Amino acid sequence: LARRLRDGGAEAPLLIFPAGESSKTRETKSALEDELFGLGIDRHAAIVAVGGGVTGDMAGFIAATWHRGIPVVQVPTSLLAMADAALGGKTAVDLPGGKNLVGAFHQPTALYADVATLGTLPEAEFVSGFAEVVKSAGIRDARFFSWLEGSVGPLLDRDPEALEHAIGRCLEIKGRVVVRDEREAGTRAILNFGHTVAHAIEAASGFTIRHGDAVAIGMVFEARLAVDATGLPPAHARRLERLLGDLGLPVTWPESLDLDEVVAATHRDKKSRHGRARYALPRGLGRMLPGDEVTVDLDDETLRDVLDGRAK
Ligand SMILES: NC(=O)c1ccc[n+]([C@@H]2O[C@H](COP(=O)([O-])OP(=O)(O)OC[C@H]3O[C@@H](n4cnc5c(N)ncnc54)[C@H](O)[C@@H]3O)[C@@H](O)[C@H]2O)c1
Ligand SMILES: [Zn+2]
Repeated sequence: LARRLRDGGAEAPLLIFPAGESSKTRETKSALEDELFGLGIDRHAAIVAVGGGVTGDMAGFIAATWHRGIPVVQVPTSLLAMADAALGGKTAVDLPGGKNLVGAFHQPTALYADVATLGTLPEAEFVSGFAEVVKSAGIRDARFFSWLEGSVGPLLDRDPEALEHAIGRCLEIKGRVVVRDEREAGTRAILNFGHTVAHAIEAASGFTIRHGDAVAIGMVFEARLAVDATGLPPAHARRLERLLGDLGLPVTWPESLDLDEVVAATHRDKKSRHGRARYALPRGLGRMLPGDEVTVDLDDETLRDVLDGRAK
């Protein structure tokens, strides 16, 4: 890509940082900014983010603050980034105690997703990306959900047509939500289904569990919460769990994790208000709570019961 840009007459220096969530830090951002300064990059430049969600969040946040903001072009190369992270304008870095706590809204000028790049994505990373795909269907589109249930084979075989359909549908769904509520004043919070528990799992694991894997586990347990809290039909919760399992995603509690730590971590979630954890819960496959108040708060005991496997 850099060569093509140079062939087209652009200067295209390449900045690289170590892969992984552990790099999504203020320290990496500072180091990259020092490099930009050394290269003499001014406010007439644009940043092209080529990589997974970590790269997109990092490059997007640097672009948001470099000379008070320069354009960013997202070129996602992981399934998770194509289907979710690269669109919507959320950029951030993590603090040691919590994910995405320092960041900015900065919409990409353009987004190019080429499924051919997924050919080299390691299997575990590929599979984890399906969590956000299932989430998109689960919050907005029961027909897409059924299509996913019938397309597990081709999707796992990385069939380009199946992947393009799935990613395209996710981008349409997310695009529509973000256009209605860019800054998450209300309805955008539906994109957080599964994420209250997921972020708590990630924090309690010291960020060693992949985001997508944590989202899959988070959706399974939040769907169980939804059965009582919003009247989600238990059969819908079971279909969700089955589809995630069929796609090779984790659906059970990681034994290494301390339950109390996870429950405590739900309070550090950005949605948390007045000390009560909040959840974006579906009331049916493809249907979230209507209106602007799309999250509900639940007490710790309710969560603990479900995590403990004591609730149905
Ligand atoms: N901004 C948002 O709205 C948003 C939404 C969801 C997730 N996220 C963030 O995205 C991150 C997770 O993204 P991710 O799952 O892409 O993880 P990642 O960026 O860490 O990528 C996963 C791994 O795959 C490698 N990789 C990426 N593309 C590859 C390719 N084509 N071939 C070979 N290797 C490749 C990466 O180098 C990395 O080792 C998290 O930090 C999460 O918070 C952001
Ligand atoms: Zn996510």
